[in-house]
Amino acid sequence: MRALVVDHGAEGHLSLAEVPDPVPAPDEALVRVSAVSLNFGEVHGAAEAWIPDGTVIGWDAAGVVVKAAQDGSGPAEGTRVVTIGEQGWAELRAVPAARLGVVSEDADLGAVSTLPVAGLSALHVLRRMGSVLGRRVMVTGASGGVGRFAVQLAARAGAEVVAVSRDPAQAAVLRGLGAAEVHAHPASVERPVYGVVDNVGGPQLVDAFARLEPHGTLISVGRSAEQDTVLPPEALWGIDGLHDRTIRTFFLFGEPAADFSADLTWLAAELTAGRLDPGISRRTPWTRHDEAVRALLDRRLRGKAVLDVG
Ligand SMILES: NC(=O)c1ccc[n+]([C@@H]2O[C@H](COP(=O)([O-])OP(=O)(O)OC[C@H]3O[C@@H](n4cnc5c(N)ncnc54)[C@H](OP(=O)(O)O)[C@@H]3O)[C@@H](O)[C@H]2O)c1
Repeated sequence: MRALVVDHGAEGHLSLAEVPDPVPAPDEALVRVSAVSLNFGEVHGAAEAWIPDGTVIGWDAAGVVVKAAQDGSGPAEGTRVVTIGEQGWAELRAVPAARLGVVSEDADLGAVSTLPVAGLSALHVLRRMGSVLGRRVMVTGASGGVGRFAVQLAARAGAEVVAVSRDPAQAAVLRGLGAAEVHAHPASVERPVYGVVDNVGGPQLVDAFARLEPHGTLISVGRSAEQDTVLPPEALWGIDGLHDRTIRTFFLFGEPAADFSADLTWLAAELTAGRLDPGISRRTPWTRHDEAVRALLDRRLRGKAVLDVG
């Protein structure tokens, strides 16, 4: 089969190559992949020198089951699915039932391929925050893959969403997705917030933390700013009275045995029904992966990039 593999000599450290087909374990279905989406994490990670040339990468992929799992778990042959895991940017992917969601016949597989990492991360971070009904929730990096889904899901959950995006052109889009306020930086947010979904880190995290109300929680998802996060002493105890706030980290793959199937199925149904916007800003055949990868690495991409496989 063909796959996108790490190639340190190529533009974006990725190239299309012929590799052996995956051999599914007894609890894995074999999926013929129709479309994949890119995340900053894996594209950035492909450039790491320790990842050998020829490694198949890619977390998000959607397609059709061509061989059901031998042990009877998971969907039957012919079922359309959205999947999460490793080695997904390939014509075939082997995946256990816990890592796939069932997708309806009318779903756009390219659109649902945007959901696994970005959509699941947004959903799970918000769940960890507890009920946000009637509460203010800030989302930093709101124009990004995780950010856009977090804005939409928090608004759906009844939060008053405060979106933070450096890009003024994103304000109308983010309001359309459910944001009540849009700011260029957390420092300009006047009223305190109950929770923060932080995708940026660095000074934005510090300023977002300072906007928390008592007992509020900031969940650190990502570090897009690639800057150190230095909390001054007064942020932790001192005269500004920022006692009793929480900062916690998040890792989608933190529980290896996590079952994502129900959440992937739900997210795909919401997206297909038009209640969740995938925010695809670039969609190309995978033969032109280098353009999408370059846009992502150069930070010219807003929302998600999708590659159609084949
Ligand atoms: N912990 C986990 O399990 C997990 C899961 C998924 C993603 N992540 C991480 O979470 C972060 C967000 O993921 P994503 O897929 O949403 O990434 P993305 O699509 O690249 O979006 C990141 C957003 O961060 C904002 N940003 C602010 N300052 C920035 C800076 N100095 N440089 C670049 N971007 C900046 C940008 O939004 P504005 O222009 O609107 O400000 C950008 O759209 C990444 O660091 C990713 O690796 C972690």
